[in-house]
Order: sequence, then structure tokens, then C-alpha cells
Amino acid sequence: MIVCYTVAELRKARARLPAPVGFVPTMGYLHAGHLALVRQSKLENAATVVSIFVNPTQFDRADDLASYPRDVPRDLRLLEDLGVDAVFVPSADEMYPPGFKTLVRVQEITEVLEGAHRPGHFDGVATVVTKLFNIVQPDRAYFGQKDAQQVVVVKRLVADLNFPLEIRVVPTVREPDGLALSSRNVRLTPEGRRAAPLLFRALSAARDAWLAGERDAERLRERVRAVLAKEPRIRLEYVSLAHPETLEELEGEVSRGLLSLAAWIDDVRLIDNVVLEGEV
Ligand code: PAJ
Repeated sequence: MIVCYTVAELRKARARLPAPVGFVPTMGYLHAGHLALVRQSKLENAATVVSIFVNPTQFDRADDLASYPRDVPRDLRLLEDLGVDAVFVPSADEMYPPGFKTLVRVQEITEVLEGAHRPGHFDGVATVVTKLFNIVQPDRAYFGQKDAQQVVVVKRLVADLNFPLEIRVVPTVREPDGLALSSRNVRLTPEGRRAAPLLFRALSAARDAWLAGERDAERLRERVRAVLAKEPRIRLEYVSLAHPETLEELEGEVSRGLLSLAAWIDDVRLIDNVVLEGEV
């Protein structure tokens, strides 16, 4: 496994890789969710590149950036064990050298849900993902359904800017109790960790109602709120049932939709989602 710290090193390593090349962008502190993306890339490509970069421009809160967990040596061991070909671990200066002035902005679909609560977040994501795609030049790039809006935004970016690559989406990996794996989970207190599975249980309650025939958008959102109201430790920031591509909030009868939420547990902000689709 080649570990590259500069763009020049990565380009040199990339030129020697067999095609097709799969790419998994991450911010490190890898867990089984990230590793599922890597495994999928390994299955579908001749070579796999992973990036580890805690992108400062997508953090809207300085304390979140400062407390974001990091352990690059451990990450490199995990990636080596999976048989990854090359890892890109740039510094912030390598990605944003003095004089950097460019911003990539996807409009409208970044202004709702996560975008509405995290100003500038998706400008940071779109800009860094554009840079990483240009540096790595993959044939396929892997993203997790856990960050559903990020998937929608990155797909839009790839279509709009004609990136010659395919976006592949991997299902959310969960703990046995349902909690979606997240690098931020390690910051939960023991009490917070005990409360956290309720997020997925609330989404699942609404999905069960959906499967039982409930089609009213507001009643489905209300189902989520009702479950979470039982746990004082959880402060719901939003619950949304939106169109899966336009991310417009749905009202009345729905035929399919993205049910998503963000919530604070203690001082940790967690997100989760399920897709409601199909007739049963
Ligand atoms: P990060 O939060 O490290 O996540 C990297 C990738 O892992 C994302 O595609 C994310 O959706 C996926 N992922 C995280 N938890 C997952 C889970 N429980 N199941 C499945 N996939 C999961 O997302 C980012 O980094 C950044 O925004 C990035 C795209 C790297 C740009 O900086």
C-alpha cells in the first residue's frame, strides 16, 4: 500500500494503478461503515484509492473540527489489511495552499436539511470532493447512504460538471442496536450512547407505519417526533420527509421519500435516515 502525502505523490502512484480505479473519500477515524465502502470498491475495481482528510472548510463549528477524532496510524493499518492500493493523506496546506480562492457551490439542494442547519457545509464538501476527483481521477467513487443529502449533492455535482466517473452508494452500516456507525459516536457519554439507538427506532416506527399503509407525510414525520419525545436526552433538530432527488419537503400523500433527521444527544450532533419506497 502506497501512502501519499502530496498531490504530486498521489498522481505518480495513480498513474501506475490498473483500471478501473475505485475511490473512497473519508475524514478518517475509520469504522465498519467506511470499511464497507472500501470492500465494495475492492469488489468492483482493479485498484482502490482511499483519502483521509479532515476537511476544515466543511465544518461550520470550530469546536466540532477541533474535537473531530483522528488516528491515522490505526486507519492505515485497517486499510492495509483490506488490501487498499493507495492512500492519500494530505495536509490542510497541501489542499488549501496560500492564495486558494475557489469555491464549488451546488445550489438549492444544499440549502435544505443539513445545509439549512450547517451554513457553508456543502460548499466545503463540493469543493473538496471536486479537488479529490481531479487529483485521484477515479472511475467509480463510493459514498454511504448514511449521509443521504451528501449523496444527492455529489451526484448533482458529477452530472453538472461532467466528471467521467460513477457514484456508487453503499447502505448504512449499523450497530446491532440500530445506531448508525459514525466517527462522532465515540464522543457520546455512556448515557447518551444508551439513548442513541432511539433515533433509528423512531425512523423505523415511521417506516413500519409506512409499510402498514400510512401515506400522509406529516403523520409520518409526527411518528418520528412522538418516539423521540420520550427521551429527554435527545433534542431533535429536524425531521424531514422529502423528495429523494429534489429534497423538497413533501406534504399530503407520498409515494416515496427520504425520511431523515438530525438530533443532538448531549453535545453530539447525529444524523440518520431511511428511504420509504415500494409497495408492500
Ligand atoms: P466521513 O464522514 O469520514 O465519511 C466518509 C464516507 O463514509 C461517506 O461517504 C459516508 O457517508 C460514509 N459513511 C459514514 N458512516 C457510514 C455508515 N454508518 N454506513 C455507511 N457509510 C458510512 O463524508 C465525509 O467523510 C466527507 O464529507 C467527505 C465525503 C470525505 C468529504 O470531506
